[in-house]
This record gives sequence, structure tokens and C-alpha cells, in this order.
Amino acid sequence: MTTPSTHLQMFSTVSESGELRLELKEKSIPALEANQVLVRIEATPINPSDQGVMFGWSDISAATSAGEGQNTVLTAPVSEQGMRVMKARVGQALAVGNEGAGTVVATGSDELAKGLAGKVVAVMGGSMYAQYRVVNADACLPLLEGHTAKDGASCFVNPLTALSMIETMKMEDHSALVHTAAASNLGQMLVRICQADGVELVNIVRKDEQVALLRDMGAKYVINSSSENFMAELTDAIHATGATLAFDATGGGTLASNILACMEAAAARTPGAYSIYGSVKHKQVYLYGNLDTSPTVLQRAYGMAWGVGGWLLPNFLAKAGMEVAARLRTRVARELKTTFASHYTNEISLAEALDADTVRQYYAKHTGEKFLICPQK
Ligand SMILES: NC(=O)c1ccc[n+]([C@@H]2O[C@H](COP(=O)([O-])OP(=O)(O)OC[C@H]3O[C@@H](n4cnc5c(N)ncnc54)[C@H](OP(=O)(O)O)[C@@H]3O)[C@@H](O)[C@H]2O)c1
Repeated sequence: MTTPSTHLQMFSTVSESGELRLELKEKSIPALEANQVLVRIEATPINPSDQGVMFGWSDISAATSAGEGQNTVLTAPVSEQGMRVMKARVGQALAVGNEGAGTVVATGSDELAKGLAGKVVAVMGGSMYAQYRVVNADACLPLLEGHTAKDGASCFVNPLTALSMIETMKMEDHSALVHTAAASNLGQMLVRICQADGVELVNIVRKDEQVALLRDMGAKYVINSSSENFMAELTDAIHATGATLAFDATGGGTLASNILACMEAAAARTPGAYSIYGSVKHKQVYLYGNLDTSPTVLQRAYGMAWGVGGWLLPNFLAKAGMEVAARLRTRVARELKTTFASHYTNEISLAEALDADTVRQYYAKHTGEKFLICPQK
């Protein structure tokens, strides 16, 4: 097996002067400890959560790139408000890329590490926009025979989040779900999981073609937030399903508040579900994404039994424990090419991911337009 001593890795830095810089740096590959393996990263997706670290609050519409090949550097201006939000990271070169997959090309001396030699594995843990990654052997998910690095590149973030939404629903005593930006890569996985597991799901999208896409997949409840009857249609779907838990990927504006209002209106239709303080059952919206960066507006017209909070996969997995995490990972590995299949519209190199026009394409995060970085390209 080849073990290079250096490799290219992507870093994002915000400078004191209000500029974001995204670039590749040549880094040495550390010596392996007994329980570690060296993975040659062959495929790593660009997810919205990666872009949070890559671009922060910079203005991508004004981004430019200079240089060629591995010397390409992307820069983008950061507003005063953006600088305030990103104060804690100013001057730090942050490694980017949450997850990816590739081949184990060198191992430490432990049995578990040695057993992974030559295997294709998926890995989560940051610093994935790189040609190589040293990782603990027990953090690797070996892919099943016949599965490639591209099949396994998006093995963790979206699949585990979608599965964890169902786990959260059960743990917090709810029986059905509402999901927003529901035609997303993750949203389509959630549709398939709910169908397989018999969980009622209310999908909220913002365009007619997204309604058609999810209906073609067999989704029963798909509501368009752009429809003039949105609130009435959402209330009907929530009443039909009994959903009292929502996961909102947009995070901003009035969507979370509107969902709570519809849950309240749906509860008011059921005798006994209501008190003078509003409906009795706790209604919860988790803001788990930031697709809409405007402030979150809560109109509070839904009694007193409700909550709005943040939700993050690693925090949930830490709370749920190792057994739950292992069960979810096993299901992902088994259903990688079906329930959890991701489709990519573009495969690009590390350097191409720094080109300003390419950045603007994947920064748009449009339905079905997911980019895959192939660091060996
Ligand atoms: N908290 C966590 O632990 C966690 C973990 C994983 C994922 N996430 C979040 O899950 C979400 C989905 O990720 P993904 O990889 O599946 O995304 P994706 O495939 O890139 O899809 C993004 C979707 O969001 C829609 N969208 C974009 N901006 C929107 C807006 N302002 N309002 C409404 N819809 C909007 C897009 O529709 P259009 O075509 O109409 O633009 C598209 O359908 C992201 O927000 C991500 O950050 C969170």
C-alpha cells in the first residue's frame, strides 16, 4: 500500500480585515497510532452543513477566485454583521468537510485497524475535504461488498439525521412528523423511511415541482408553503396525522410559528384536547437547518404547551447512546443503495470546488443539485 507523506487539504479562514478565504494547503500526514488507519478520500459530498463552515456569513454573490489548479484561492467579503457573528473564528484556518468515503491504504498495528486494510470505508469527523484522512479504526463504517466510495460518501450526515428524527419522535412521545424543505436529499430519505416504518409524515415544500417529486415517491401529505391555502391545508394534514413534532430546515421567518399555529388549530378540532391555556399536548418544532437566514419570528398564538429549539445530530447521538447509534449505522450500511441513496449532479476536484462560479452553483442548494468532491480527481 502507498503511504504518502503530504497531501492537499481545504481550509476556510476569516481575516480581521473582513475577508473570507477558502484554499488548499499542503499538509503532512501524521504517523499512525496503533488504533488508527489512513483513508484515501475518494468521495465527499458538499452538504449545507459543510457550507456553514466553508462560507460562514460571507457574501458569496461577490466572491472571486484567483490562481490555478491547487493554487486556486476563493475570497469573499464579509459584512460588519457577519464579522460580529463569526468573531470566534477570526484568524483560524478551519478544516472543512464533515463526511466522506475512501479506501484504507495504511493501518496501525491493532487487530481492528489491520482488519480494515484495503477496505472501502465511510467516515465522519471533519477535515474530509482532503486527499487523505487519519482516523480511528472504530470510527470507520466498512461498506458492504460491491459498494463504492461514491455510494458511501453521504453515509452519515443525512441518513443518520433522518433516522434520528424518527428516534426523537419516539423518545419525546410524538406519533407523526412535519418536515420542511422536504424535497431535500434528506427529505427524500425521510419519505422512504416513513413509508417503510409506517410513520405519518407531513412534507412542506415551496414549489409545485417539489410537490410532484414527493407525490411521485408516494408521499401522502405534501403541502406547498407558496399556496394561498397553505395554513388550511397544513392544518388538515396535521389533523389527519396527529403530528405534534416538526423539524424545520429553514430556521428563519415565520414557518416554525405557522406550523405551531396549525398544530394548535388541528388540536382545537378534537374534543378534550383543549384547555383555557390552549391545547394540552406539547407541540415542538426543532430548527435543524439554516436555509433561511432571516430572523426567526414567533407569533405565539398557540397556547402554552409548545417549544422551539435547536437540534443537531451529534448532540442527539450523544444523548441517545452507543446502542442506538450502532443500530442506526447498521441500517444505513444495509440500505445504502435504496433508502439512503444520494444522487450527485456534479463531481468536482478539490481545486474546482474553489472556483467562484462553481461555488455559486452549489451554494444555491437547489433541489436535486448536490455536488460531490472527488479529491483524487
Ligand atoms: N442539524 C443537523 O444535525 C443537520 C444534519 C443534516 C442536515 N441538516 C440540514 O438539513 C437540511 C437539508 O440538507 P440536504 O443536504 O438534504 O439539502 P439539499 O439536498 O441541498 O436540499 C436543500 C433543499 O432546501 C430547499 N431550500 C433552500 N433554501 C430554502 C429556503 N430558504 N426555504 C425553503 N426551502 C429552501 C431547496 O429547495 P429549492 O430547490 O426550492 O431551492 C432544497 O429542496 C439543511 O438545512 C441541512 O443544514 C441538519
